[in-house]
Amino acid sequence: MRIFVLTGAGISAESGIPTFRDAGGLWEGHAVEDVATPEGFARDPDLVYRFYDERRRNLKKVEPNPAHRALARLERAMPPEDFLLVTQNIDNLHDRAGSRRVLHMHGRLDAARNERGEVLPWSGDLRAADRCPRTGTRLRPHVVWFGEIPLHLDEIGRFLASLRPGDLFCAIGTSGVVWPAAGFAAEAGRMGARTVEINREPTGGPFDEVRRGPAGIETPRFVEDCLALLGRGSNAPEDGCPPSRP
Ligand code: OAD
Repeated sequence: MRIFVLTGAGISAESGIPTFRDAGGLWEGHAVEDVATPEGFARDPDLVYRFYDERRRNLKKVEPNPAHRALARLERAMPPEDFLLVTQNIDNLHDRAGSRRVLHMHGRLDAARNERGEVLPWSGDLRAADRCPRTGTRLRPHVVWFGEIPLHLDEIGRFLASLRPGDLFCAIGTSGVVWPAAGFAAEAGRMGARTVEINREPTGGPFDEVRRGPAGIETPRFVEDCLALLGRGSNAPEDGCPPSRP
């Protein structure tokens, strides 16, 4: 059995990171076009650097929740080639919960990118004056903005295309309005996989099964059901999780 899990802002909500669309079209008080587009960055780079600096600093104050940890447990129970975790989130809570392979399709806050597109880890503030130690060129947040192409689409497409009847697709805490991620459930369904949604609110997405409720409760339940299907059912607590590190 193969399992594809797609996560969105809702999985990190119980860790204290606000979601996008619950804020009435604003992203923590900013218009999306000011802080999440290449045009916004060209217009006012300092605003954009400060915006992501705040979010990067906030990573040190938040912790993974039971939903992140449950997905790390599921990954450990499966052959690596049969499990794929894709997140739209730029936080690092999946990684800190112990997930070993997470595709951050919208980039990540704890990295910066130089003008050649090379990515380097970045944990402190990032400013216009900062230069890439390798190339001496300007750095920007390693975040995919509106109008830019998301990352890892080839690998995601290959996994989706490999799904068959008996496989599972699960979308957790995503409103399903941002493409191409919004199309993954329908694609998985076309390949014959059973599609499951975990969300606090109805989204109207193309799912065979909807588990309505907080991700922190419903994800561990979903993972237990998967482990039972795999013949690996366990009520063990968060065994073997590495300690969380911001
Ligand atoms: P949204 O803010 O659009 O949606 C969050 C979803 O999580 C909503 O459907 C909520 O109902 C649900 N939700 C909130 N709290 C929850 C909880 N505790 N348990 C379960 N569900 C909960 O966030 P995304 O779908 O992730 O893109 O947004 C997609 C993309 O839009 C983001 O990656 C970002 C944004 O613009 C970029 O930055 C490129």
